[in-house]
Amino acid sequence: MMTPPSIMCLMLLLATSAAGAVQPDRCEGDCKGARAQVLLQTGSVGRQRFAAHGSGEEFKDVQRVASMSLSEESSLVEDLVTEVLSTGQPLTGVQEEIIERLNESFVTETLPGLQKRHDSDQELLNVHAASFAHCDVDLETNSQKVSTLNSDQSSIESAHTECLAQEGSLQSSEKLMHEELTAYLKSIQSPSSMMPEQRAPTPAMDDFVAQNLEFFRSLSSSYDSLKEQISTVEAEVEAKTANCSEVGLEFDEKFCLWKTEVENAKSNYLNCRTEVGTLYRETLKAAHSNAEGRRADLAAVLKVQCYLRMLLDGTTQEKLKECNDAEHTTECADTDNGAADPWGDDCAAYTAFPNWCGGHYDGPNFFSGTMCCVCGGGEQRSALDIAEPQLLDLNQRVLDGLGAPGSQVQCTAAGSSDAGSLYGAYAAGDAATTYP
Ligand SMILES: *[C@@H]1O[C@H](CO)[C@@H](O)[C@H](O)[C@H]1NC(C)=O
Ligand SMILES: *[C@@H]1O[C@H](CO)[C@@H](O)[C@H](O)[C@H]1NC(C)=O
Repeated sequence: MMTPPSIMCLMLLLATSAAGAVQPDRCEGDCKGARAQVLLQTGSVGRQRFAAHGSGEEFKDVQRVASMSLSEESSLVEDLVTEVLSTGQPLTGVQEEIIERLNESFVTETLPGLQKRHDSDQELLNVHAASFAHCDVDLETNSQKVSTLNSDQSSIESAHTECLAQEGSLQSSEKLMHEELTAYLKSIQSPSSMMPEQRAPTPAMDDFVAQNLEFFRSLSSSYDSLKEQISTVEAEVEAKTANCSEVGLEFDEKFCLWKTEVENAKSNYLNCRTEVGTLYRETLKAAHSNAEGRRADLAAVLKVQCYLRMLLDGTTQEKLKECNDAEHTTECADTDNGAADPWGDDCAAYTAFPNWCGGHYDGPNFFSGTMCCVCGGGEQRSALDIAEPQLLDLNQRVLDGLGAPGSQVQCTAAGSSDAGSLYGAYAAGDAATTYP
């Protein structure tokens, strides 16, 4: 649609037009387009609808003209053409000037304006498409964190395993010592000699005491020493058990940190892609609908321009038909969308080396013959068509690389993740603006 001119501008025009001057220069801001439209009316163009004739009566229509859509303008100019065709009256000098000015405003404002709005929608769409890469960057960062936590938990897991092995070997040496003592006690023979009948310091009594003394002295010494070894190893087992249980707790903690981070990294990535995807699709929808409006505007401008040309060159039925059938031009656009052959060459490279065409260098997702204009592929596109950017695929490789912690440890309420809206800023609203 045309930019609606300010009322102020129109009032100035009205005043100056009524006084017969057709070059109002006191418009504030840029109102050439509006001026040209008004001139079209005041110069008695389109007599049937806007029979201005300088009478001043129909100037109230000016405001309505200024807010007309391009296609309405188009049909207005069409009416003029019909009239010129039926009356055969030549254009006046003022009318010619008006036509040139109207054309100029299309060339310098309307058409560049359409292209500019198209470019800004396309750019916004590309930015949203590029946002998928932010998700991947975050995923890579989180994947580094996960990998550190994984090696932490894995090294403490082996420390724990080693600790348990040491505990086990201490326990078995404790058991062995018990068995050794038991075996020793079973193996010894207590002196069997009876105490002499005669309870007197006889040589027999001396013998008896000496024999028993020797036996119990040796027993006491071995028994005490074995028991001491056992209690030493018992203390070692106790310390090791305490140490291992602490190491075990530490392992549980690290394992759960790792597991939580893996889960967060996965859900953050998937949420990020969902959010970016939603915004992208909204933007795409708005961009397509804007583009549709712009294409209609462009068609109307081109038609009006054709009419204007015809008015200047002389109006004929054939030319009128030509103008009505005129379609805006499209041009070929490559459809490689980021794909390339196995050597990394895309359509742009083929454009520089057209002798590469022929399909000899095609890859699994690159077909020069269908994708590249230079090789006879591509698709016809108007300069105002939205090109849909290539979107990044889900990064399954990095996702899988995060690992699968399993559930060997019961992790209580694995720290509620901060999987908030990473792209809240986008949601705040720069989906493509819609043009009425
Ligand atoms: C367990 O023992 C190892 C050495 O054996 C020591 O480095 C570590 O600090 C101990 N851990 C605890 C929690 O006592
Ligand atoms: C309109 O302007 C363009 C560019 O200056 C020119 O090529 C074309 O002939 C003009 N048409 C009319 C009707 O003056």
